[in-house]
Amino acid sequence: MNTTLIRNGRVITATDDYVADVLMQDGVIHAIGKNLAVGEGVRIIDASGLYVLPGGVDTHVHLQNIIGPTVTCDTFASGTRAAAFGGTTTVVDFALQTAQDSPLEAIARAQRLADPQVNIDYSLHVIVTRVDAQVLADVRHAMRHEGVTSFKMFMAYPGVMMADDAAIFQMLRQVGADGGMVALHAENGTVIDLLIREALEAGHTSPRYHALTRPAILEGEATHRGIRLAELAEAQIYFVHVSSNQALKHIVTARAEGIPVFAETCPHYLLFDDSVYNSDEFEIAKYVMTPPLRTSDDQKHLWRALRYDDLQVIATDHCPFCMKEGHLGYQRQKMSGQHDFSKIPNGAPGIETRLVSLFDIGVMQGKLSLNRFVQLTSTTPAKLFGLFPKKGTIAVGSDADVVLFDPAATQVIHAEHLHSQCDYTLLEGRTLRGQVKKVFLRGELIVDGEQWLGREGMGRFVPRGTVQAF
Ligand code: URP
Ligand code: ZN
Ligand code: ZN
Repeated sequence: MNTTLIRNGRVITATDDYVADVLMQDGVIHAIGKNLAVGEGVRIIDASGLYVLPGGVDTHVHLQNIIGPTVTCDTFASGTRAAAFGGTTTVVDFALQTAQDSPLEAIARAQRLADPQVNIDYSLHVIVTRVDAQVLADVRHAMRHEGVTSFKMFMAYPGVMMADDAAIFQMLRQVGADGGMVALHAENGTVIDLLIREALEAGHTSPRYHALTRPAILEGEATHRGIRLAELAEAQIYFVHVSSNQALKHIVTARAEGIPVFAETCPHYLLFDDSVYNSDEFEIAKYVMTPPLRTSDDQKHLWRALRYDDLQVIATDHCPFCMKEGHLGYQRQKMSGQHDFSKIPNGAPGIETRLVSLFDIGVMQGKLSLNRFVQLTSTTPAKLFGLFPKKGTIAVGSDADVVLFDPAATQVIHAEHLHSQCDYTLLEGRTLRGQVKKVFLRGELIVDGEQWLGREGMGRFVPRGTVQAF
């Protein structure tokens, strides 16, 4: 029996804020109360002055994902350890359906890779690239029997991952009717490809052209198209990595019309703006992610949407590639695009810094309440992706995934102190208020200050239910 009592912490959920004791037993939260009495052999942790938060739920990460000719530079082992140090105890990664296989094979392949390595609990969205009757049958099977209830589709990257509108519509119609979620990457891929070709033909090869060839209007156009397809399909829909007001304005209007549209943004869109691209140095390849960073005006709209619930989730889109070729043996990383921006693998790291960076720029700067912070980073992602109430809250019977967070601490972020295998962080040298002190996964202490106590393979695949947003 593994029993721990957290004494006197300030318990923060999406709705509550009170000082109490939390008793964790056999992997779940067993009791919450004042001055809980416990017998001998119970480990007692004094959490006076600390927040007791539900473990973070990050529903958008790319660990060990093969993307084009390369692979993201965090394994399931390193990425989930980094997540844990950052206060995240559940991640949802991706299983890619290739040209040769089915969604079910994609799930099995990702599980074979992840299961022996994961340090925290995990699930998978299937990336569906091709739709036919068999694929739709497999999708239904995945939802009913494999606990995989969400599917990502791309409106970008023609010839690689892009699905056409009819395929997206078919998925929305079936998955929506079955209570699951289609998550869309909304950018107009064919027009972007044309703009990229034209830029390269004009000799524009530096990373700044990544941003210039993916204008916000093409994110807006695809978002609008996705919404209309969802409306026709009478389905709920989720937009990943929303970065611009061009996209947001369609989301806001659709929600006001009663269409069940949900959306996430990512910390990098809140932390940085497109002024970082004002250089022809290759160094800015660090900021080559998709969609690219937008204007400070877009950022204001993102904050407004977070406040008024037009954005419901903040996920990382942790998609790390090293700047130094050969770092830890990783090849074909950011330097692949040294002479051609279109060959820079898209993505940036962030899995470990999500909670602390949002605490600093959101809560400490008065833009998010503590409850909203928890809701955006744990509770709502758990609800939208069928993990709640096992994950996403502190309640009797929920998994004892608990973070002790010190709001009074400050830290300076350096890549070498983080636990990702990526050789850089976008937050290098930045001082952030707040610090994760201890992390429990199903009642087991896995992070204790700087000490790692977790074990590879201790994380579990979590079968998920349907969308709980209504
Ligand atoms: O740049 C990004 N976001 N890379 C990851 C793949 C995706 O589109 O989410
Ligand atoms: Zn995407
Ligand atoms: Zn992504």
